[in-house]
Amino acid sequence: MKHLLKLGDLSTEEIFGILNLADQLKYERKNGIGHQYLKGKHLGMIFQKSSTRTRVSFEVGMDELGGKALFLSDRDLQIGRGEPIKDTVRVLSRYLDAIMIRTFAQQDVEDLAKYGSIPIINGLTDYCHPCQVLADLMTIREYKGSLKGLKLCFIGDGNNMANSLIVGGIKVGMEVAIACPDNYRPDADICAWAQKNGKLTITSDIEEAARNADVLYTDVWASMGQEGEKKVREAAFAGFCVDARVMAVAKQDAMVLHCLPAHRGEEITDEVFEAHAQEIFDEAENRLHAQKAVLVKLLK
Ligand code: CP
Ligand code: NVA
Repeated sequence: MKHLLKLGDLSTEEIFGILNLADQLKYERKNGIGHQYLKGKHLGMIFQKSSTRTRVSFEVGMDELGGKALFLSDRDLQIGRGEPIKDTVRVLSRYLDAIMIRTFAQQDVEDLAKYGSIPIINGLTDYCHPCQVLADLMTIREYKGSLKGLKLCFIGDGNNMANSLIVGGIKVGMEVAIACPDNYRPDADICAWAQKNGKLTITSDIEEAARNADVLYTDVWASMGQEGEKKVREAAFAGFCVDARVMAVAKQDAMVLHCLPAHRGEEITDEVFEAHAQEIFDEAENRLHAQKAVLVKLLK
């Protein structure tokens, strides 16, 4: 594994390798066992969108691994004034050991990998969010014991989260069901790949998708960069909500996950969110462990 650009680039073995290492690093951290595998290594973190979890978990993660993280906002970098990505990465490759980037276009992440000479990690694009889904799979495995054969239901927009959940879920042997409005389906190539390699259902019928699900997952109706579409999206996504009606058709012991930030009263009710807060915040914590595992795999 040279980069983490999208989950589609990883084999099932590589995904489980990251999850196993993440479990080990979590255990070591809880028991005060140091693991400074990345002494002297520097991670640059380029943010072209906001972040709470991704920024803090990568920064703390690098510190715990003995390395350093540099927060690079596009308001300060010359990228914000038009310096091309392909020049920026050739410069940064001379100083840094790896780059994590959160941006809009997946092509920008692919270009960093193409023109740079250090590992690139995707910290979210409009297309996918691989770091989040590694933490999600880790969390599901913690609660359910294993992943194969579980039914994962995602309710909401077919964009970055849905795309990565489909790829990650199918690669580890889960059945994936997506409930979304007809105009907001996940990436067509990802759906075609998933249908060839596993069991994927796409429907606008929320109850059909949620029936007998082991895991219910949702995300905001309007993602970062889509603030101008808020009104249109509120109308399109009305009812695409993890609520008591959805919980009633899922398995009795179904868990609920949310990548966060959450908009209570839109994609999830306050009641369901609070009933599953333990799972949701374990999931947020696991961002730290899963990303530390990615950093060790790429840099050690
Ligand atoms: N889930 C997630 O990526 O959170 P942030 O946007 O806060 O990084
Ligand atoms: N779909 C959301 C995910 C945030 C972690 C967004 O892109 O804003």
